[in-house]
Amino acid sequence: MQNQETIGKILLTEDQIRQRAHELGQQISEDYKGESVILLGTLKGSVVWMADIMKAITLDTAIDFIAASSYGSSRTSSGVVKVTKDVSMNLYDQNVIIIEDIVDTGNTLKFLKDYLSDRNPKSVRICTLLDKPSRRIADVTPDYVGFTVDDLFIIGYGLDFDQRYRNLPYISYLEG
Ligand code: IMP
Ligand code: MG
Repeated sequence: MQNQETIGKILLTEDQIRQRAHELGQQISEDYKGESVILLGTLKGSVVWMADIMKAITLDTAIDFIAASSYGSSRTSSGVVKVTKDVSMNLYDQNVIIIEDIVDTGNTLKFLKDYLSDRNPKSVRICTLLDKPSRRIADVTPDYVGFTVDDLFIIGYGLDFDQRYRNLPYISYLEG
């Protein structure tokens, strides 16, 4: 397995991301004061961000994961989304916070919000590490955003290109 792509500059360091996770964790803890939450991570991209954000939340907290994939070419998602690993917890009357790596076209989150609403949760909000608003197609706005990024193909800190680069401890992008 060889890397044929060129990795760009470091856009966000591990320290910057952890600091932001701490700020958002505090905000979430205030917003849901006295309540419990289920953090629902989207596999696989959100796992590194999930690990940071969950430690920054001081509420009664459970975590679960869901995997959804959209079919399209490797760099862009189509509008067709399928759940490939379902939620295992009962979401009825629960505060669900979807933990996402990046909101791009918004197609995945739009689908997931509709999909989860069938489970009758008390509330559903979105906490994303990155937001790429310039590419938005679907009508979806994340409630908690780590950082806004330009229209680049982002890698690292959980985000992949063809399943690689998820292990980079920083956020970068592919050149070209
Ligand atoms: P959507 O276009 O908002 O539906 O994005 C769906 C998924 O595509 C995201 O959750 C990511 O897993 C992936 N994705 C979108 N943009 C990027 C990117 O710049 N780098 C890596 N993955 C991305
Ligand atoms: Mg994702």
